[in-house]
Amino acid sequence: MTKTWLDAFTPECSTWYHNKIASTSTQLVHPDIEKIMPTEEGAQAKLEIQQWTGYEATPLHRLGTVAKELKVANIYLKDESPRFGLGSFKALGGAYAVFKVLSHLIKERTGIEKINSADLRNGTYEAICKNITVVTATDGNHGKSVAWGAREFGCQCKIYIHREVSKGREQAIAKFGCEMVRISGNYDDSVRQADMDSHKNNWHVVSDTSYPGYMDVPKYVMQGYTILASEISEQIDGVIPTHVFLPGGVGGIAAAVSAELWRIWGKNRPKVVVVEPRAADCLYQSALSEKPMMSHGNLETVMACLSAGEVSLLAWDILSRSANTFMILNDETIAPSMRRLAELGIVSGESGAATLAGLAAICQNPIARMSLGIDHDSRILLLSTEGATDPEIYKKLVGVEASEIVTNLPI
Ligand SMILES: Cc1ncc(COP(=O)(O)O)c(C=O)c1O
Repeated sequence: MTKTWLDAFTPECSTWYHNKIASTSTQLVHPDIEKIMPTEEGAQAKLEIQQWTGYEATPLHRLGTVAKELKVANIYLKDESPRFGLGSFKALGGAYAVFKVLSHLIKERTGIEKINSADLRNGTYEAICKNITVVTATDGNHGKSVAWGAREFGCQCKIYIHREVSKGREQAIAKFGCEMVRISGNYDDSVRQADMDSHKNNWHVVSDTSYPGYMDVPKYVMQGYTILASEISEQIDGVIPTHVFLPGGVGGIAAAVSAELWRIWGKNRPKVVVVEPRAADCLYQSALSEKPMMSHGNLETVMACLSAGEVSLLAWDILSRSANTFMILNDETIAPSMRRLAELGIVSGESGAATLAGLAAICQNPIARMSLGIDHDSRILLLSTEGATDPEIYKKLVGVEASEIVTNLPI
């Protein structure tokens, strides 16, 4: 038999669990989710980000041939690789949170209520901003967004990275002119170190993950992400997907997009499937225990940006209601999925391709397929969260430079 990319998807390559505490509410938005992410604040984030130089909706591709291969009606893939030239959706969250943090600090010092990003860019508040330092820990993409935001809005920036962050990712962040701090521990250690150093030095943490005592800024980060879901609803020609596959690191992006899709499509919203690496399964473990849990794996995974050991508490509060299924995936499913997308002209990085891998894993396993209610009529929405954010690793896994891949799909 001829070999295909689907050969990597054995029945053992994934495990799934249906969330027993998912909400079945037919309301437009769940009141607890509205409390964390008020509609009004999401709308403000959207208005703000749409004014930024270089803003453009990212493409929504239709993957007709892959839909045939996986025996579903249609697959739509939201491709975040071109987002603001930063290579991932993270450009939306970290930079927006830097803007919000600076706005609050300026308001505290001047009493001025309405700060706009153009004033920050043109130096109106330079004297204040240049003495403010924003800090975050990162696997790569969130740090790049914060460093970019700090450069755009004129404040100081320090980015903490852990031992596994590749040189390529480090350089891609450093080019925005921030100070890089590499620690010897893992991602969760870098979050703690950034937090401790910030308290000592009066810096301002702009983290994408929430933890006890740190809940406000990650809300801004998630509000920034929601624009992506609004774009999808405008691009999808009135189709409502039956299932959406979202990647899970600390849970921020899955929470933000699932909340926004609920707001847009209400009781007709798609079933939400959250995909994580087997080695970094904090959301899956939280679903099993029905409360925030640590990952059971060693966090070593090719899906570098999904390597989180602890959930974001706010994200869990949303996902425990909005996500229907949590699944974990073996690493060997990733390179074939990246290559399949590259054949179609889509550059999708190691974490970006996790959602196609998750869908293929379910579709190749008849029991899983039936259990998730996926059939010939299913309309699947996938989020490819990044392009080749580490070009060397991309080339190693796909076999060609990302720059040689030319998009040939209808948008
Ligand atoms: C490309 C990419 N995809 C997915 C994620 C996961 O996002 P979250 O940690 O908000 O779950 C990240 C996080 O850094 C990322 O960079």
